[in-house]
Amino acid sequence: MHAIEKQKSPVNSMFDIVLGQDNVNFWLQKINPLWSVQQALGKIVQKQQSAADTVSLTIQVNRHFKMGLAGQHHPVIIEIKGVRYERTYSLTKLDAQHVLLTVKKVDQGIVSQWLNDKAEMGDVIEFGLPYGEMLLPQNAQMLILLAAGSGITPMYSLIKQLAAKGQLSQQAVHLMYWVKKHEDVAFKQEFDHWNAQFSQFKFEVFYTQEQQADSRLNDAHIHNIENLQKSTVYVCGPSGFVTTAEALFENVQDFKSEAFSLTPIITDDTGFINVTLTQSNKVVAIPKGQSILAGLEQQNIKPQHGCRMGICNKCACNKAQGATKNLVNGSENSEPNNLLRICVNTAQTDLVIDI
Ligand code: FES
Repeated sequence: MHAIEKQKSPVNSMFDIVLGQDNVNFWLQKINPLWSVQQALGKIVQKQQSAADTVSLTIQVNRHFKMGLAGQHHPVIIEIKGVRYERTYSLTKLDAQHVLLTVKKVDQGIVSQWLNDKAEMGDVIEFGLPYGEMLLPQNAQMLILLAAGSGITPMYSLIKQLAAKGQLSQQAVHLMYWVKKHEDVAFKQEFDHWNAQFSQFKFEVFYTQEQQADSRLNDAHIHNIENLQKSTVYVCGPSGFVTTAEALFENVQDFKSEAFSLTPIITDDTGFINVTLTQSNKVVAIPKGQSILAGLEQQNIKPQHGCRMGICNKCACNKAQGATKNLVNGSENSEPNNLLRICVNTAQTDLVIDI
């Protein structure tokens, strides 16, 4: 398709060396916005409203893009007013050159608001490498998928993959999906269609803010599931939802969860904690009760990070000393020399970390 899709010639390599990759990319993208020496890029070719405050973007990707497996997440990098922002989203494969990026607008979410309100056809987005463990299981007796809000996107990819491989007629799947209102349900037509077509696929939606409101996730929802212990259960939603699911499904054979937002743990902790950064040779005071990453950023320290939700491990560093609390599940850790994900942990005592 493009000249750059061929093996690089010695002349091109010389250009790289003389001009630098950024310069080469700059000139290549004057000709075609998807051309690049090394960047995985995609161009928006279709934009659709898939639910209230939720947009689905069809994106044509270039040859550097590495499609993740169904259920995985991709770093998505966009530039807004000259500033690069990285967020993490679950993509759905449409065909060899197109993926679907579905994004729900969140309060004060710079990227989600831009993608919903400002992104246009032809805009170019950069992608990182996929990651995540919530993959289609081999030979699951029953696959139970629980989603709340935009936690539906990896579940949609998993089910779509099963349908594409012709396996939705054999694999028993039970999808439970919590939203606030009727207009918040994404991919409803496809879920209803699969529900009607495949007896093995069960689809339930729970509306928590309609007049006749359904209840939030509780043990009544799992009461009638047969052979629950032998099921594979995947959960994606806000941290409170994930924490409830962890308790309900503690005895199942295979359980995986991902939380995409942090519900601050209710705590009496106030005041500040001193964090010693051994590599930068600094000591900074950050407030208790929020993530260490957010606290450091407020001090103008910019640690490496990706998803900001405890999945990608990009923010992980060694904690030499101190006690921390996980903001997703409330677990505490005071062991020295532990790997610490600073995006989902808050400091309980003074800390020494290798950043
Ligand atoms: S930024 Fe991804 S795990 Fe912390």
